[in-house]
Amino acid sequence: MDQYDVVVIGSGPGGYVAAIRCAQLGMKTALVERYPTLGGTCLNVGCIPSKALLDSSEHFHNAQHTFEKHGIRLQGMEVDYPAMVARKREVVDLSVKGIDFLMKKNKIQVHYGHGSYEDAHTIKVTKEGGEEVFLKTKKSIIATGSKPMTLPGIEIDKKRIITSTEALELEEVPERLVVIGGGVIGLELGSVMARVGTDVTVVEYADSLIGAMDKSLGKELAKVLKRDLGFSISLQHKVTGVTHHGDKVIVTAEDMKKGKEVAFEADYCLVAVGRRPYTDRLGLEKAGVKRDEKGRVDVDTTMQTNVPDIYAIGDVVKGAMLAHKAEEEGVFVAELLAGQKPHINHHLIPGVIYTWPEVAAVGYTEEELKKNGTAYKTGNFPFKASGRARASMDDRFGFIKVLADAETDEVLGVHMIGPRAADMIMEAVMAMEFRASAEDLSRACHAHPTFSEAIKEAALDATDKRAIHF
Ligand code: FAD
Ligand code: NAI
Repeated sequence: MDQYDVVVIGSGPGGYVAAIRCAQLGMKTALVERYPTLGGTCLNVGCIPSKALLDSSEHFHNAQHTFEKHGIRLQGMEVDYPAMVARKREVVDLSVKGIDFLMKKNKIQVHYGHGSYEDAHTIKVTKEGGEEVFLKTKKSIIATGSKPMTLPGIEIDKKRIITSTEALELEEVPERLVVIGGGVIGLELGSVMARVGTDVTVVEYADSLIGAMDKSLGKELAKVLKRDLGFSISLQHKVTGVTHHGDKVIVTAEDMKKGKEVAFEADYCLVAVGRRPYTDRLGLEKAGVKRDEKGRVDVDTTMQTNVPDIYAIGDVVKGAMLAHKAEEEGVFVAELLAGQKPHINHHLIPGVIYTWPEVAAVGYTEEELKKNGTAYKTGNFPFKASGRARASMDDRFGFIKVLADAETDEVLGVHMIGPRAADMIMEAVMAMEFRASAEDLSRACHAHPTFSEAIKEAALDATDKRAIHF
């Protein structure tokens, strides 16, 4: 029987990063993965393929709608959607091969097959043909991620009623798509389809899109998605069922404002109502590992389960379901196992939505500050007042909002919707990691002309209402 210091179950961004850090710190490490490729949801059916399609479709959208204003005339343009999907597959292939390389480089033993606990220190790997391999280990890390959820009464048939996984593999451009859920997946993949010509309808239970973020972001994003991509958005609609007739689907929902039932017809229905922790046939009971009230592996602040030698990270535990959160937790656990004193600040994990305009945020929302009774001040700066945005012409929508403590001026939250927000949010994360004040942000020299000047201006507005350009 193979004997390891650490066995990691699941090779997503949580698992493979944890394995690399364990190996770097001198532990004999194995990684178990049930799929034939490494990289988990993120690389195979999540972050990377969705961003590949978002980028391709954005090129097409810009070529159709903004190039002419820049003095570039194109004729006879059309989308070859299967080619877009093929390019996405190449991007995924390259990315997962990169993880193979990293495993070899770090001398991590990869075992392909379904991992399950026999006891707290023995993991069984069941290979595709049924062969079983047993791994003995001192410690283990559960990084088995998540799977798409559905709603009661809605059966995902993977043909017309689909999740993000199938949506990333469509070979045709639907005429009409109904997206259930105005959250991250619905809006990113809805954007891809709308840009290549699909009529997209979003049916959302809550009274705003991307409801977990600062409310101002969802409002602005809804405006742009309606105007630029022709989204039809039905808020406060509770989906009650989906039926599939031939090549049509009918989504029924309760319009909660009017108190009546409505129906939406389309070629496809994308169910994007969240994801559930994946612990199927993991043998948690045999190891004695407890779940929390939401079915996630229960961990304490050090990512340790109730069984001392078993840790868990990423989507399978509480917190944001994000690749970078899983990675941070992977490094954290590896360093803890090596006897170090790592630190992780769950409050400063940025959230990003890769629509156009991009949406990004870190720290408290205005709604949270109000609820907590925190005295705060607000600074805003719209991109329409940015020279860099004017030079890019169409990048003139959106804004940056800086929230700072009313007394100490410490930055408490930064929320932005606009060009390159995904990258710009890191300035706010760094500032907040060092507990900067809005004045600190505003006094740092920002290169001109850049989109990031909008952060400085919003911080100036928050400090004492002295934005220069607005
Ligand atoms: P996963 O990536 O889910 O990996 C878990 C792995 O464990 C899988 O490979 C699975 O096969 C394996 N596994 C499960 N059970 C077993 C078992 N018993 N034995 C062996 N192997 C097992 N996040 C972002 O931060 N940015 C984005 O842009 C982004 N885009 C996304 C787009 C989409 C369409 C989706 C669906 C998700 C996106 N996410 C994004 C979320 C991100 O993919 C997840 O947060 C991240 O992958 C979680 O990492 P993880 O390591 O916890 O789990
Ligand atoms: P989500 O939680 O972002 O959105 C789900 C939406 O469905 C919510 O707005 C919810 O109100 C709505 N909903 C629930 N029940 C409903 C009903 N009966 N009728 C109508 N609407 C209903 O979940 P999503 O989009 O599925 O994404 C899952 C996870 O994947 C997210 O938590 C996110 O962390 C991760 N992800 C991250 C990305 C990124 O970082 N850019 C991209 C894609 C996914």
